[in-house]
Amino acid sequence: MAHSVTTHQAEEDARNEAILIYLDGKIVPKAEAKVSVYDSGFMLGDGVWEGLRLYEGTWAFLDEHMDRLFEAAKAIDLDIGLDRAGVVSALLETQKANGMYTDAHARLMVTRGVKVRPFQHPSLSRSGPTIAIIIEHSRPSIPRPIRLATVPHLRGLPMTQDPKLNSHSKLNCILACIAAEKAGADEALMLDVHGFVNTTNACNFFIVRKGEVWTSTGDYCMNGITRQKVIDLCRANSIPVYERNFSLVDTYGADEAFLTGTFGAQTPVAVLDGRQIGTGRMGPVTERIRALYKNLIAEHCGV
Ligand SMILES: Cc1ncc(COP(=O)(O)O)c(C=O)c1O
Repeated sequence: MAHSVTTHQAEEDARNEAILIYLDGKIVPKAEAKVSVYDSGFMLGDGVWEGLRLYEGTWAFLDEHMDRLFEAAKAIDLDIGLDRAGVVSALLETQKANGMYTDAHARLMVTRGVKVRPFQHPSLSRSGPTIAIIIEHSRPSIPRPIRLATVPHLRGLPMTQDPKLNSHSKLNCILACIAAEKAGADEALMLDVHGFVNTTNACNFFIVRKGEVWTSTGDYCMNGITRQKVIDLCRANSIPVYERNFSLVDTYGADEAFLTGTFGAQTPVAVLDGRQIGTGRMGPVTERIRALYKNLIAEHCGV
């Protein structure tokens, strides 16, 4: 079996050892970008984050990322301490400090800040938020279509850590990924509480059947920005697309399957639970959607 790959694999880039990082209003060298062991993010995974990509000087779909960040912060009752313009300006300042123009990926993180005591209660986080922005030089390099394994870890109901939240704590997803790797796959396919196919541990999931594109209803998964762009592109280009419940039987029998996410855009899936999907290579519908998405990025980023 081929070595396992990840859906967030990038070309090695030595410049990433010398990047500058935004930490609480300061731009510091990577080696000095450190947070306290009392930080709510470190101690409890108490925070929210966004992953964004830079194409030719433009942060793709920045408004949508800011909407999702501020919505998530409101949901967990976390005051970011900056307004949208402030967060965007911190991102741009970090980009500028690193002299980056394209092919860069940002992880923008906000936690509830440093605690006065090492316990869970949020009132113990009194420093104000910790804000960190890592931007790395990043050219995705995913050497082959992805292998998935279905795992027992579910996408939960919204009242138990709503899976829509891009929370720092990703333990459920990490356990899912570990289980998939132990089953010889690269990433986990996760079902919802009813047993319908939902999402992978780090990307949204689509199948193609007889020219139709299917994805989950959107309940129980991240409201992925790339997911929504793919749905919108299908609608605008007369590709039938459905947000619906579907099962593993539908998925094993699909002609194509692919993942979506800001990092990898659309990544083909070759195998699920030891069964080849379609030809095991990128199919024509996936290829078409990839081309449409590339054009969308080019238009959006004025390339
Ligand atoms: C669990 C999960 N699903 C899907 C996505 C993809 O979302 P987006 O397309 O907004 O990058 C992410 C990215 O953060 C994620 O963590």
